[in-house]
Amino acid sequence: MQRSEARVMKILTVVGARPNFMKAAPIIAAIKEYNRRLLADTAYRPESQVETIRHILVHTGQHYDEVMSGSFFSDLNLPKPDIHLGVGSASHAVQTAEIMKTFEEVLLEEKPHVVVVVGDVNSTLACVLVTSKISFNPDGSRPVIAHVEAGLRSFDRSMPEEVNRILTDHASDLLFVTEESGLQNLRNEGVSPDKIHFVSNTMIDSLLNFKEKAEKSTILERLALVCQARKSGGANTGTRYALLTLHRPSNVDNRDIFLNIISGLEELATDCPVVFPLHPRTQRRMREFGFEFSFSGSARKQKGNVQGSGNWRGGIILTDPLGYLDFLCLMKHATLVVTDSGGIQEETTILGIPCVTLRENTERPITVESETNTIAGTRTDTIKDAIRRQLGRKRDDGVPKNWDGQAGARIIDILVRWHYAKALSRPSFNPLAMPPEDRCPCPQPN
Ligand code: UD1
Repeated sequence: MQRSEARVMKILTVVGARPNFMKAAPIIAAIKEYNRRLLADTAYRPESQVETIRHILVHTGQHYDEVMSGSFFSDLNLPKPDIHLGVGSASHAVQTAEIMKTFEEVLLEEKPHVVVVVGDVNSTLACVLVTSKISFNPDGSRPVIAHVEAGLRSFDRSMPEEVNRILTDHASDLLFVTEESGLQNLRNEGVSPDKIHFVSNTMIDSLLNFKEKAEKSTILERLALVCQARKSGGANTGTRYALLTLHRPSNVDNRDIFLNIISGLEELATDCPVVFPLHPRTQRRMREFGFEFSFSGSARKQKGNVQGSGNWRGGIILTDPLGYLDFLCLMKHATLVVTDSGGIQEETTILGIPCVTLRENTERPITVESETNTIAGTRTDTIKDAIRRQLGRKRDDGVPKNWDGQAGARIIDILVRWHYAKALSRPSFNPLAMPPEDRCPCPQPN
């Protein structure tokens, strides 16, 4: 290896779909901070063999609309992707295969030391499969694969994300875990303990980092909810609203299940307005199933958003998908969140907002143990019951304690130490040139 190659640590991070962006942002911010510290500390340069990290951001293009992708880059201060694969939407097989084909070329060109993948979407698995089989030279060298948000299990193999999680974890070299259950699941599956690191939750890093900025969002005004929430000092008193998201194929692609869910929400919607940002899949299904009429009683167009009250006295407010800061602001001030998302279960937990999850299971049991989240299933009666119970619950703050906003920094610290520990075996490496000590040791899981 050339001297200059040995001195540069190259990390490539993959993002592809909406829930990836907020998980990757803290890692990229931590790289920036690491480089800043290193450059500020002359003890580590220029003779030092420890160099700044070169980072490459790859966007697969699984999500491509401004509302599903573009706006998140500005909201989260993410740099423009260095490489865009532009794969777009397709069946699971075609989408995964397209990502694999194009990502292989990127890897062979860039030859990073580490590939970081986040979450459980098709882009995550596709890039892990390619990286695990690539070979940069005859000795078979390839990048280390780091999976952020490892070990989560719903134990429901009918979910594409569960298949993605299991395969991604077992093909990865470093597993960064967000909650105790993840540690246990990986141990039960026989994963070697030296691969597993409990680092906390990068998605929560983003939330804590952007919580204040989200207050500047004008979404409450734009949806005419301002007098309900903000004028009461930001507290959850006065007239209330609920926030609803639905996008899982198992919920919205099946007409009967979708109908059960709508019926399960009717009581809530007579009580308070329900804000419903529509995922593109959900929007399409509502049109196909003719469900727009359920919501369209007094519908009116407003700045591209459709509002209507239908038979629901509180009313339902349909909007296009929202950006990160708008959605975070809405979550913070909501009385209740109803969702089938994975990440929103965690975000409501740290915000202490009652959450009802329209699924049969969760891969994030800490949210249920923290009592902010109830798993309601998709039957009308169980949904109504869960909503009543969650509305009667007191709002909590600040759980779980070890989600402290430092996960990104821990991940970079571990990657750097791993990289230079490997370099120690090279005769030319000077161990005194190791980077500064870790300032945020891994916390104990709850
Ligand atoms: C994907 C993830 C899911 C995640 C969700 C967040 C997988 C298997 N699923 O599901 O885990 O919770 O993202 O949204 O990776 N579309 C657009 N514009 C876009 C993106 C998608 O219109 O920018 C439409 C397309 O018609 C597409 C459909 O939405 O067919 C679904 O997109 P896709 O990426 O296939 O999966 P999601 O359902 O979004």
